Amino acid sequence: MNPAELTLDEMERWLREEDDRKLEELWEAADRTRREHVGDAVHLRGLIEISNYCVRQCGYCGLRSDHHGLQRYRMTEEEIMACVGRAVEFGYGTVVMQSGEDYGILAPWLAGVIRRIKTETSLAVTLSLGERLDHELELWRNAGADRYLLRFETSDAELYNLIHPALADRRFDRLEILHTLRRLGYEVGSGVMIGIPGQSYRILAKDIDMFRRLDLDMIGVGPYISHPCTPLGQGDSTSSLPPDEQVPNTERMTYKVMALTRLVCPQANIPSTTALATLDRDNGRELGLQRGANVVMPNLTPPQYRVLYEIYPDKACVHETAEACCGCLGARIAALDRFVGTGPGGRLR
Ligand code: 5AD
Ligand code: FES
Repeated sequence: MNPAELTLDEMERWLREEDDRKLEELWEAADRTRREHVGDAVHLRGLIEISNYCVRQCGYCGLRSDHHGLQRYRMTEEEIMACVGRAVEFGYGTVVMQSGEDYGILAPWLAGVIRRIKTETSLAVTLSLGERLDHELELWRNAGADRYLLRFETSDAELYNLIHPALADRRFDRLEILHTLRRLGYEVGSGVMIGIPGQSYRILAKDIDMFRRLDLDMIGVGPYISHPCTPLGQGDSTSSLPPDEQVPNTERMTYKVMALTRLVCPQANIPSTTALATLDRDNGRELGLQRGANVVMPNLTPPQYRVLYEIYPDKACVHETAEACCGCLGARIAALDRFVGTGPGGRLR
């Protein structure tokens, strides 16, 4: 296998591979590529879930605006700065501020928070706030934000439209926003969910090919986890495929995608995600780190908000404190004979 030239057919064949001995080759190739290109450091990105308000109606996501049973919160500047203080204390190189698509997060207000983090600390600042307007993205970039994460979720336009109802007054195109982010000088991250109803093996192979073509700096992939308070979770599967075409939302499929992603994007920063840890609390994070990943995202969100950031149910670490996650991940990384990366841990070129 020549990783740089993996074709769609070859990727699809790997995604369908079930022989453990063959898969061992894939895990080894991904681990070797990871070591050669980004080394043994594991970078820690402190995640701050700053608001769970959302104006969108994504078919799979627990934060969708008509999930009325969910109590909503938006953190204050002081609450965010307290989490930032913990990130510094724990030696993290980056904070990631994430939220639903919340226009109650006013762009100039957030620019002030970003400016404060950049003047008071040496942290890299990553934003993950959904589809915002070009001038807002520009304002935040000028305030010092370094990176932006926006998953395109699926490269298949038809499936995308089925599970992402558009807002009445606007049309957004996530790929276009990713190009805008690049033009503004952000490091750009994206990704997909694995096993969304309607996702075929071919579509998933094309997703991985899209990572390669976009030359992404960061790529996050995780299993789709059904949420009972969403249309997809209620079995309103907008699109149903024959069983041999539908990608399963399993742990093993997630590793296959992470490994192939590492092979085609050898220098990207790839996290071992919380969704993966949710499927396998004992070993998910570790196996992710051994099959392509080089990043983990310990949660810094205060406990009273953590439980409300319910994108999917039973999320790993929801009942842990920031200290517990910090200690837990440090120990897991050391047990793999890897080490915690220092500094911002940006994309190597
Ligand atoms: N299962 C797994 N991942 C989900 N996300 C949203 N809802 C779910 C779910 N039910 C992911 C999306 C989004 C990221 C922040 O969380 O990919 O981009
Ligand atoms: Fe949160 Fe292990 S990472 S407890």
